[in-house]
Amino acid sequence: MSIRRLPQNLINRIAAGEVVERPASALKELVENALDAGAKRISVELAGGGIDGINVTDDGCGMMRDDIALALERHATSKLPDDAIEAVATMGFRGEALPSIASVAHLTIESRARGGEGWARTVDNGQVVADGPIAMPLGTRVRVEALFAAVPARRKFLRTARSEFAACMDVMRRLAMARADVAFEVTHDGRRALVVQAETRESRVSALIDRQLADASVPLTHQRGGVTLAGLAGLPTYNRGVADHQYLFVNGRPVKDRTLSGAIRGAYADRLARDRHAVVALFIDVPAGEVDVNVHPAKTEVRFRDAANVRALIVGGLQRALDGAGIQRAPLPSNAAMRGWVREPQPEYQLRHPGLEPGSRFSFAAAPIEASPRGEPGVTTHEAGVAEVGTAFRAPESAPQPNHPLGRARAQIAATYIVAESADGLILVDQHAAHERLVLERMRAARANGQVPSQPLLMPEVVELDEPLCDRLEEAALDLGQFGLELERFGPSAVLVRSLPAALGGAAVGPLILDLADELVSHGQALSLAERLDHVAGTFACHHSVRAGRVLSLGEMDALLREMEVTPNSGQCNHGRPTWVRIAHSDIERLFGRK
Ligand SMILES: Nc1ncnc2c1ncn2[C@@H]1O[C@H](COP(=O)(O)OP(=O)(O)OP(=O)(O)O)[C@@H](O)[C@H]1O
Ligand SMILES: [Mg+2]
Repeated sequence: MSIRRLPQNLINRIAAGEVVERPASALKELVENALDAGAKRISVELAGGGIDGINVTDDGCGMMRDDIALALERHATSKLPDDAIEAVATMGFRGEALPSIASVAHLTIESRARGGEGWARTVDNGQVVADGPIAMPLGTRVRVEALFAAVPARRKFLRTARSEFAACMDVMRRLAMARADVAFEVTHDGRRALVVQAETRESRVSALIDRQLADASVPLTHQRGGVTLAGLAGLPTYNRGVADHQYLFVNGRPVKDRTLSGAIRGAYADRLARDRHAVVALFIDVPAGEVDVNVHPAKTEVRFRDAANVRALIVGGLQRALDGAGIQRAPLPSNAAMRGWVREPQPEYQLRHPGLEPGSRFSFAAAPIEASPRGEPGVTTHEAGVAEVGTAFRAPESAPQPNHPLGRARAQIAATYIVAESADGLILVDQHAAHERLVLERMRAARANGQVPSQPLLMPEVVELDEPLCDRLEEAALDLGQFGLELERFGPSAVLVRSLPAALGGAAVGPLILDLADELVSHGQALSLAERLDHVAGTFACHHSVRAGRVLSLGEMDALLREMEVTPNSGQCNHGRPTWVRIAHSDIERLFGRK
């Protein structure tokens, strides 16, 4: 077989296989080019999810006639004037995006630079089909049509217009977040999909994720070894079922990176259930030379020279910011829970109260406290529970203190929820969730001071477990010792427990050890030592906490509320659910149609 040099057109098409996977990847390249050209306003028109058409118009520097021809040639770039890839400050640098796209689509570039004439060049699947002058303002417009029309193998892999459009929007959100100083506009099939003006980074981030985020996140800034971290960390209670809302930027470039997402998971590990994901926007700046951006043709991956430092920076920065949030948590109880308070207008009630507008949003709620129409946990309670266990009750003889945001305990319902009155409303606290968190934070604090008190068992206890679980416990024995739990291997499938953390006096040893082993297995090597220890503390906390169903005195309840107010992270339980909800006075008034 003889070896031959491939024709340019084929080379471009091969490169396109890596760079242009779907409309969203072509769009990303075009918008990055516009940003690199210094555009302050970028407008994108998509048709059929980008499959039928992508149009990107910018007010950047534009190109001279000859440069347009060059731009369509492979390995032609204006962005590496001194050959220093390490120090590259632009989004692009490979000089292959345009020729790659042009090799698998019908592409037109129209451009005019200062001092030059407007020029348009059209390439169809690698062949120049039109070239000539046009009248246009300064800047550039690139039109891509019939993507993959001549590459059926690729076209087959495209998804529905709807999901291709979703991928395009994901690209746009990430780029728009990276450059809050630039205005963006996106339309899809003639309808507006996104419009943002130049603004601050904070307001851009919440505009693109969710306006609520401003109240459901904490800002962060952190520095370590020349690397800086800034951005927003969503409160754990503001979690999502998918990790799509984690936006990461390295030196201004949107990236998807395993190290970074692993670090986020680690930082939230003891704050979120395993199937829930944090919402974050993290901007990481590292000195050039500390990161390699030339890892993947699509430039969405990076490689850090000192990945461990970057990871520690992120875990530390996120945890510190979240610790500072105190009892703060996402502002509203979930909508579904809120609906439990609101019922359709009752006809009889309407008759007797003709003043109430039919269909008003906050309509009459039939005995909301007793109703639990959907059996939702959290806000509504069961009448039976109130009747049976309504043991603790305090007449409102003492006014709630404004400096106690969680108010004074008034009653306990269903032996599960604390009802408190605060200066501005009614507070419900999930006693188990809240207490579990407090115990965890106490253990963390004790561990930070190097002294978790331990209590020897009167009789060491043998716990039998599967061999792999015993292996895990044995490996973790030293770490566990830091919590006052002493155990050792006892034959192939058992461990011998000698002492427990003093806080757990009286806990059933067997179930505790089994839970611990499960915890260690499920997180395994993915977490650092400190994160694993947090998990251990979480397991202990769960075993020791005031269970739902335990009757508390008003004094105990008040003590719990006061401790929550001064404890970091007490707004959410160890699984990311809120520990308390508030119904403001104004909401109560609206529930009764008084407002
Ligand atoms: N919108 C634009 N405005 C001005 N110049 C542009 C624009 N788009 C492309 N160019 C010019 O065309 C050149 C080639 O663009 P292309 O995207 O193919 O490569 P690149 O951006 O240099 O590198 P990469 O392949 O990494 O994107 C750029 O270096 C730039 O000089
Ligand atoms: Mg480019």
